[in-house]
Amino acid sequence: MELNFPQELKSGIEWNPSRERLIVVSNRLPFVLKRDDLTGKLIRKSSAGGLVTAVAPVVVDCGGRWVGWTGDCSLTVDDEIPEASEEDTTPTAGLLKHQVVPVYLNQQQFDSYYNGCCNGTLWPLFHSMSDRAVYSSEYWQDYIQVNQLFADKTLEAIEFSKMDGPDIVPLIWIHDYHLTLMPSILRQALNEKNSNALLGFFLHIPFPPWDIFRLLPWDDEILLGLLGCDMIGFHIEDYCINFLDCCHRRLGCRIDRKNLLVEYGNRIVKIAALPIGIPFDRFQRMAEEAPRLVKEKRQKIILGVDRLDYTKGLVHRLKAFERFLEKHPEHIEEVIFIQIAVPSRTDVKEYQELKEEMDQVIGRINGRFSTANWSPIRYIYGCVSQAELAAYYRDAFIAMVTPLRDGMNLVAKEFVACQIEEPGVLILSPFAGAGETMQEALLINPYKIDDVAELICSALEMSRDEREVRMKNLRRREKVNNVDAWAQAFLKAIRSTTSMNPESDSKTGSSLMSSAMDDYDEYLSKYVGNAEKLALLLDYDGTLAPLAPHPDLAILPNETRKILQRLSNCPDVYVSIISNRSVDNVKKMVGIENITYAGKNGLEILHPDGTKFVYPLPVEYEDKVRCLLRQLQEEVCHDGAWVEHKGLLLTYHYSETVMHLRTGLIKRARELIEGAGLVCTTAYCALEAKPPSQWNKGQAALYILRTAFGVDWEERIRIVYAGDDFTDEAAIKALKGLAATFRVTSTLAVKTAADRRLANNDSVLRMLKWIESHMTKRKPRLSSRNSSSVLETMDEVQQSQLSA
Ligand code: ADP
Ligand code: G6P
Repeated sequence: MELNFPQELKSGIEWNPSRERLIVVSNRLPFVLKRDDLTGKLIRKSSAGGLVTAVAPVVVDCGGRWVGWTGDCSLTVDDEIPEASEEDTTPTAGLLKHQVVPVYLNQQQFDSYYNGCCNGTLWPLFHSMSDRAVYSSEYWQDYIQVNQLFADKTLEAIEFSKMDGPDIVPLIWIHDYHLTLMPSILRQALNEKNSNALLGFFLHIPFPPWDIFRLLPWDDEILLGLLGCDMIGFHIEDYCINFLDCCHRRLGCRIDRKNLLVEYGNRIVKIAALPIGIPFDRFQRMAEEAPRLVKEKRQKIILGVDRLDYTKGLVHRLKAFERFLEKHPEHIEEVIFIQIAVPSRTDVKEYQELKEEMDQVIGRINGRFSTANWSPIRYIYGCVSQAELAAYYRDAFIAMVTPLRDGMNLVAKEFVACQIEEPGVLILSPFAGAGETMQEALLINPYKIDDVAELICSALEMSRDEREVRMKNLRRREKVNNVDAWAQAFLKAIRSTTSMNPESDSKTGSSLMSSAMDDYDEYLSKYVGNAEKLALLLDYDGTLAPLAPHPDLAILPNETRKILQRLSNCPDVYVSIISNRSVDNVKKMVGIENITYAGKNGLEILHPDGTKFVYPLPVEYEDKVRCLLRQLQEEVCHDGAWVEHKGLLLTYHYSETVMHLRTGLIKRARELIEGAGLVCTTAYCALEAKPPSQWNKGQAALYILRTAFGVDWEERIRIVYAGDDFTDEAAIKALKGLAATFRVTSTLAVKTAADRRLANNDSVLRMLKWIESHMTKRKPRLSSRNSSSVLETMDEVQQSQLSA
C-alpha cells in the first residue's frame, strides 16, 4: 500500500513484509488521544519521540500492530480509536485504526500499576535509588493484572496477524519496565499454540546491579517474566552484565558472560547491548530551519532539557551553577542558564516534592544574583515543541546533561545533532548510558558540585579548536548510530535467535551454551575443590533418565549408566539414587550394584551391603492405601489414567489422558486421596498419595549421608544433589548451604531453592562427566590430622556410624 506521508518519515529499516509482522507493545500508544472541544470526538495528538519515529513506519509498512495504553483513564472500549487526520504528516499517520490495539486502564489500575508499581517501585529501584522505592503488594498485584491485560491484547494482535498467512512470523517487540512480566505470560500462551512468534524486549532504563535488584520482593518474578523472551536488549553492556548476574545468582541459571546468553529451561535467551540513537537528520534539519528564540546574543546560553524527574540531577545541577556564579563573578551577566523541564508523573509524591524544591532553589539563586537587567536562570516548566527545542540546542554554548542515573539520555544526542553553528560543549554525567560512548563530552560526576562549577568555567573558556574537534566526533558517531540503526540492530538480533532455539531441535540451544562456556568449572570446581570425598545424590526420572509417558519407558541412557558405573567404582565418590519409585524398581532401572538406592521418596532405603531401612508407618496405614487404591481404580482410572501401586505410596498417572478430561479426573483423584487421610502432591503428569509424615527426600538424604559418613558428615564430604521434581525441593532445601544443588527444569516459571538450574538430562550428563574428570585429575591430598574437612580413616567412619 502506498502511504501518504513524506519520504523522510518512511521506514529506514530493512524489512520483509511478506513474511514478518511487527507487533510493538509499549505502555503508551504512539500518540495521545484527546477529545476535541467542539465536536467531542477523539483525535490523535502525535508524540514524536525517537522510538515512535523509528518504529512506527515499520509497523505501518508491514501491516503490523501497536498495542498500548490510551493514556486517558476516562476512555473505555466504547471510545473508538480515530484514524489520523488528513493534515497529520507524523510517523504514526499511516497507522490505520485497526493497527492500533488500545489497552484501557481504569483510574484504580492507573494509580496502582502506573503511579504505584511502575513509577513508585521499579523506576527508582532500577535507577539504583532504592531509598525512594516503595514496596506494596497491592501495587504488585495490579502490575501483574495489567501485564496480563497487555498480554491478552497482544495475543489478539498475533491472531490477527496470522490471518495474513500460515507462514507469517509475528515479531513481538515489548518495551520497557512497565511490561516485564508480559513475555513469560505470552510465551506460555504461544507454546500452547505451537506459535512461531519471536519475542523481544527492550529496556529503556538501566538494569541495576544484583545487590540493588535483590531488594525488590518480586525480583525473581521479574527475571522469570523477562526470560520468556528470545532476546532482551539493554542500552549498554553494563546493564546486560547486571541482568546476567541476577539470573545467575537469583535463579541459578547457567549464563555465558562472554557471549551474553542465559540458559532458561530448554531455551537460550540472547542478551544484547543495543544503545538507542535519535533521528539525527531530522533534528539537524529542524535546527537548520528554526528561528532564534533567545534574543540576547552577547550572553552565552547554558542549557538543561529534562523531564522533571529526580533521576535527572536537576537540583544538583542548579547548585553547581550557583557555586559557579559564586566562584566566578566575572561571568555574571555573561551567561544565561535556561532550564526547560517537562512536567512528569505529577501524581507521584516524589515528583511533586521535586517541583517544589526546584521552585525554591531557582527562586533563591535568582534572588541572590539577579541585577537590574539580568536574571541568571530562565525556567520553562512545560513541554516545548521539537522545533523550538532544536533552536535552543543549536544556540546553546553548553548543554548540561547531568543525571544521577539514566538509561541512555537522548537530550545529549539531540543537542549534538543540532550543533550546526558555533560548536558548543556537552557536559555529561558518566551515570547516563550516553556517557559510555560520548567520550568527547566533558564527563563529570554530578554529585561533585564544586568540580561541576569549575567545569562550567572551563567549558566557557574552551578554545574553538577543541570545541570543534570534540563536537565533530560526537556528531559523526550519532549520525551513524541513529535510531534507525538501533531498530535495525534489534530486529537483526531477534531474527538471529531462531538458529539458537530451532523448533525442530530443542537441544541445540543447550549445546550451543555448553560449547560456549563451562560453568561447572566456575561453580563446581570452587565447591568440590580438592575434597577427598564426594557424595552424589541424584533423582532418577527427569534427572538421569528422560521423562516418558509410562514409568517403564523412562530408560536410563547407556552413556549415563556407564558414567555412573565408573563413578561408583571410584573410591572417592559415593553415589545414591533417590527416587519416587519403589526401591526395587529404581534399582532395576539403574542396574548398578554397590550404590545406595532410596525409593518411595526415601521411605525405603537400600544400602550397598543389602541392608534396608523402612520408615515405620502406623499398621492401619497399609489398609488405608489398599482401600484408596480400590477407590481410585473404580472412579478415576479410565481414559488413559491409571494408578501405580508402590506399597506405601500410590501414584496416579494421567499423562496419556487428553487435556480436556484431565481437570475433572485430577480434581476427583485429589479428593479421594485427601479423603483417605493421605497427603496429595503433584508430580510430572501425576498425583502422589503419601503418608502424612514429615519424612521426605530431604530427611532421606540427611539419613543417607549420616549413615554413610557419620554424624559429622558435613565436615567430611562435598555433596552434589540434582533433581527435577517438586519432591526434590525438600532435599534441595534440607541441603541448602551444605551441598551444591541443581534443579533440572525445562518449564517456565519454576521456582526453586536450588543454587543452579540445569536444562535437561543432557546437562546432568555433562555435569557427571565434569565430576568424573575433576575427581580423577584433582591433586591427591594427604590426610591431615588437623583438617576436620577431610575424612580420616575408614575406622573412624565406622566408629562414627556406630555412635550415630
Ligand atoms: P527520559 O526518557 O528519561 O525522559 P531522555 O533524555 O532519554 O529522557 O528523553 C527525553 C525526551 O523528551 C527527548 O527526546 C527530549 O527531546 C524530550 N524532552 C525533554 N524535555 C522536553 C521538553 N521540556 N519539551 C519537549 N520535549 C522534551
Ligand atoms: C522514560 C521511560 C519511558 C517513558 C518516558 C516518559 O523514557 O523509559 O518508557 O515513556 O520516560 O515517562 P511517562 O511515565 O510519562 O511515560
